[in-house]
Amino acid sequence: MSSFESTRKVFSSLESFDATAWDGPFTSEDRERAVDGLESGRVLYFKNLPFSLEAQEKIFLSTTWSDQEAKNISFDPTEGRLRGARIEGADGDKLVGMMSRYASGARQFLHSLLPPYASTLRLARTSFRPHEVEGRPVQSYRKDDTRLHVDAFPSRPNRGARILRVFTNIHPAGKARVWQIGEPFEAYASRFLPTVSRPLPGLAQIESILGITKGVRTPYDHIMLHLHDRTKGDANYQREAPRQEVAFAAGSTWVVFTDQVLHAAISGQFVLEQTFELPVAAQCRAERSPLRVLERLTGRALAA
Ligand code: SIN
Ligand code: FE
Repeated sequence: MSSFESTRKVFSSLESFDATAWDGPFTSEDRERAVDGLESGRVLYFKNLPFSLEAQEKIFLSTTWSDQEAKNISFDPTEGRLRGARIEGADGDKLVGMMSRYASGARQFLHSLLPPYASTLRLARTSFRPHEVEGRPVQSYRKDDTRLHVDAFPSRPNRGARILRVFTNIHPAGKARVWQIGEPFEAYASRFLPTVSRPLPGLAQIESILGITKGVRTPYDHIMLHLHDRTKGDANYQREAPRQEVAFAAGSTWVVFTDQVLHAAISGQFVLEQTFELPVAAQCRAERSPLRVLERLTGRALAA
């Protein structure tokens, strides 16, 4: 593995904004800075953009609604169903109501902030993360988000589409959510690509037929998943790789392409998160997407 010297120097990982309302208004300068920041692998940070719970929703600021196995409670708007929760009846409806309100707020927010993405942005899962991250036992290193990684979904291939996420820290007692942010994607991918072997011929089709994946995994999905696992499993990288620690304050919101930005969640509790998918073609600088970077590095088409 090459040394870390080239990226050890400071890389600036945050792009800060003053907005205090979900629907802006955002100036054209804000909007350009937002798209450029995201596509350059920075995290857009809105320090004073809280999501307010209604009085009757404060009961959810507890870990008791979790099924205690899943790390998140999630809601899929297309299925209309909660996962990872042990909750019924009116309480369940109330929780869905809170998460749906967050989903609409996040959607409206990105539509005003990122007009070039608006027509193709697809709303995916909403999640509520009630557990303290620090010290939480995990079933395997692959599921350990306190280790640096880029996101890749094992059972939901996205064929090169971007994973764009909005997070809001709703901790009631002011506890920050602390992340570490790693080196830029291209330097990172160049380091780990040699460890990723080609997929077994036919495996992607078989996994799709068996329902292990939702649709066929492309070579892009294969590489992203292996990068994710190799990185989390590399103790030396986890110890030595360059990183910047950032604390997202309670009452703040941040937006990030988590398939591009190396991140680790170190501590904090009570966050809402909304995932969006975005086609590569919607980007202003598509050549910076993980798909195009990996295609350049491998010299072949990965999601055709
Ligand atoms: C992650 O995406 O790795 C976890 C981020 C968080 O929950 O803060
Ligand atoms: Fe992640």
